[in-house]
Parts: sequence; C-alpha cells; structure tokens
Amino acid sequence: MENKRGSWGSNFGFLMAAVGSAVGLGNIWGFPYKMGSNGGFAFLLVYLLLAAFVGVAVMLGELAMGRKTGQSTVGAYKQLSEKFVFVGYFGTLCGFLILSFYSVLGGMVLRYAIGYLIAMFGGDGWAGQGTGFFGWLLYDSGSMLLFYALFSIITLVIVMGGVKGGIEKFSSVAMPALAALLLIIIIYIACQPGAVDGYKFVFKPNFEPLKNDFFGVLKTAAGQMFFSLSLGMGVMATYGSYLDKKENLQKNAVIIPFFDTLIALMAACAVMPACAAFGVDFGAGPGLLFASMQTVFANMGGFIGNLMGFLFYFLVLIAAVTSSISLLEGTVAVLNDRNIAKGKEPARKKNSLIIAGLIFIVGIPVALDALGSGGAAVPAPYELLGFTVEDLGAGLVPVAIDCWLDLYDCLSEGIFMPLGAMIMSILIGWVWGTKLVKEEVEAGGHTYKAAKFFEICFKFIAPIGLLIVLIAQIQSFF
Ligand code: TRP
Repeated sequence: MENKRGSWGSNFGFLMAAVGSAVGLGNIWGFPYKMGSNGGFAFLLVYLLLAAFVGVAVMLGELAMGRKTGQSTVGAYKQLSEKFVFVGYFGTLCGFLILSFYSVLGGMVLRYAIGYLIAMFGGDGWAGQGTGFFGWLLYDSGSMLLFYALFSIITLVIVMGGVKGGIEKFSSVAMPALAALLLIIIIYIACQPGAVDGYKFVFKPNFEPLKNDFFGVLKTAAGQMFFSLSLGMGVMATYGSYLDKKENLQKNAVIIPFFDTLIALMAACAVMPACAAFGVDFGAGPGLLFASMQTVFANMGGFIGNLMGFLFYFLVLIAAVTSSISLLEGTVAVLNDRNIAKGKEPARKKNSLIIAGLIFIVGIPVALDALGSGGAAVPAPYELLGFTVEDLGAGLVPVAIDCWLDLYDCLSEGIFMPLGAMIMSILIGWVWGTKLVKEEVEAGGHTYKAAKFFEICFKFIAPIGLLIVLIAQIQSFF
C-alpha cells in the first residue's frame, strides 16, 4: 500500500524521475557551449573529475538524508539537527526561484515546438517574423505570459498526480522518448556536410583555457555540474525519501550523474554540429537555444527542417518538464510533510496549487522584462536602479541585475545552492558523521564498497570544491 507521503513504484521509476530532474535545459543549452568555449575535451576532463569527486558524493549524501529520515528537505534537517533547519529552507527557496525562471524558459520552448507544428502543416508559426521571431517574442507580453502559464500548468498537473501516479508515470515514458529523439537528431545531423566542425569545436582538446584561466574553467565546470545534477536544494533528498529501503543508494548515486553526463554529451553532438553544418555561429552563448537553433532549422529548409525543428523543441520540452516537476515537488513535499506531522492529510493537490500559483507570480517579471533588452513591459532590475541599456552594452551593469532571470539565478544558483550543499557536506563529514550515509547504504543489505572514498569526499573534497564554487559564483555575478 502506498503511504500518505507517496513512494516510487520501482527503482527504474525512481531513476527515470531522478535522471529526468538532472537532464534539463542545463544539459542541452548550457553544456555544449560551455564545453566548447572552455577548452573542449580539457573541460570535459575537469567536469568528469568534479562530478566523480564532488557530484557523486553530494548526490549520495542527499539521497541518504532523504531516505534515512523519510522526509523532504526541511523535515530532514529538522530530524537530524534542528539548528540547521535553515539550510532546508534555503534549499526550498532556491528551488522556488529557479522554477520561476525555468518555467518562463520552458514556456518559450513550448512556443517554439508549437511554431514548428504549425509550420509542418503549412502555416506560419512565427507571427510573420521569420528567424527574427526570438526578438519579437520577448516583447510580446501576451505570448510570454500565455506560454509561461501553459508550461506551469503542465508542471502543476503532473505534480498533483502524485509521486507514483504523476512524476514517475510521466518520467518513465518521457525519458526513454527523449533519448530516442536525441539519437534521431544526432544521426540526421551527422549525415550533413560540415557537421564535423561542430564536433571539433566541442571535443578538440585545447589546454589554452586551462593554462590561461584555470580557475575560470574550474568554476564554470563546477557551477554547471551542480546545476545539471539538481544538487544543493534538497530535490534529490526529497526524491530519495520516496525510495524503498531495499534499493541500492550507492549504485543509484553513480547512475544518475552517468546518464546526466551522457545526455549532455549527446546534446553537444547534436547542437554544435547542427550549427556548423547550417552556417550558424556556435559561439552564440545563451541565445543558442532559441535564435541560433531556429536559424539552423530554417537553413535546413522545407518539411524536414520543420520536422527536425519540432522534434528538437519537443525533446527540449520533455527535458524541461521532467526538471520543473522535481523543482515543484521539492517545495510541495515540504508542505505535505508538515501537514502529515500535524496529523492531517497531506493535501498534495491544494499545496501544489498554492505553491505553483506563488511561483507563477514571482516569475512574472522574468516573463515580461524581455530578458533585460530594455524598454519592456516590466523594467529590468538595472533599469529600476537607474542604469540604461547603453550602460548594459558598455558592460557597466553587473550580471546579477541585467535581467530578472539573472537576479533570481544569482541568488539561487549563485549563492543558496553552493552554500546549502557546502553546509550539508560539512554536516555529513564532521557533525552527523559519515555513519549516517553508511547505515543508509547498508540498509538494504548492500555493501558500502566505496566507504573510504566517500568519507574523504564528504570531509575534504566536497566542502573545498563547494567553497570554490561559491566564491567563483559571487565573483562572476557581481
Ligand atoms: N538539472 C536541471 C537542468 O540541468 C535543472 C534542475 C532541475 C535543478 N531541478 C533542479 C537544478 C534542482 C538544481 C536543483 O536543467
């Protein structure tokens, strides 16, 4: 019988949900261009080392905390040490802020998928704007709000469905579909002349960036790794809390980063070669996912261009939804657990509605400030502070305030996330003791093979690694 909190139906279902949380816009949007512009293969090496020595340990720590206490973030800290309950609240707040901008981006992805669907049937999916659509969309408040709302509703409905009936069910279908779509696109792109330059851009070992700015590469890789693995805000603890005691935590903590990295690399093998083959600058950075990719599919031309465009944005949509549901669940579970602790019904549906509604409101400025391009329906933070678009162009405006998205991102990903994860590793390494993780790993009769390795990770490597991320993030945002 499923208990009141909810639980996964199987380890496979848990893995699909957890990998789904990890695989998101970060993999498809961020990873390819960050890897390409930070040393290619050399960046990958740094990324893999960080994932192996910091990512896997923090993943295991979060999963163990959640499953041990059978609680989501706040409840878990409450049970382990009341004093540190603020870390749980940090995490929750962080997930809250990330979800607000994540859903705005998700809405835009949805709009692109629909645009290609219309185009496939001969209509004009781009409001007469052609490849200039991105710039137009940002200023079209009606569309921005509508698709932001639609994406938020999709997320809400799945989370309302519960752990097994909503999140697990959706992820178990969506994740295999995502992998299949990605493969189709990779193969199609690989057959196009010129694609090879894209692979070269991503994979060519270039140790110059490492020599010139090792710290810069390290912080980019570390920040990307943390965001991509959904660490540092208790989402994984919450997912772990729904996992059966007999399942192997240690193995799961390795499988999730493995697939997350694999999909990121696959995305790199689709996005960059596509740009190379169809004459689009792949150094475009953040505009890549929208403006550049639309040009790729336009240059591909005809029905096949529209079809590939649809498949691509549909795949990105899946990736975004499986991540957004984890972010919403992280917060909703806190309220559910609080109700249960008071002896009441969890009231998941009501909690989901309240939280999703609040997040929607908080995200409205993100949807309406045209990502800081100036003169939009809602002024960007820098405009409120009296800076102008000219100051922005001249680089006088700190990144943290150049648009609402970056402001939220800087607070959450930049500060709360590394800080929370750092405190957690210190607590596990030095206060609660690594015994906590050991007991939990061994709970299902599994041997804790890498005990010594993880001990060193929790005590030294993870806290130091996270301190570096924290300092670097603060530096890069201000
Ligand atoms: N990992 C997701 C991505 O790569 C984003 C994400 C989802 C996330 N849930 C999270 C990030 C929880 C941090 C914490 O796009």
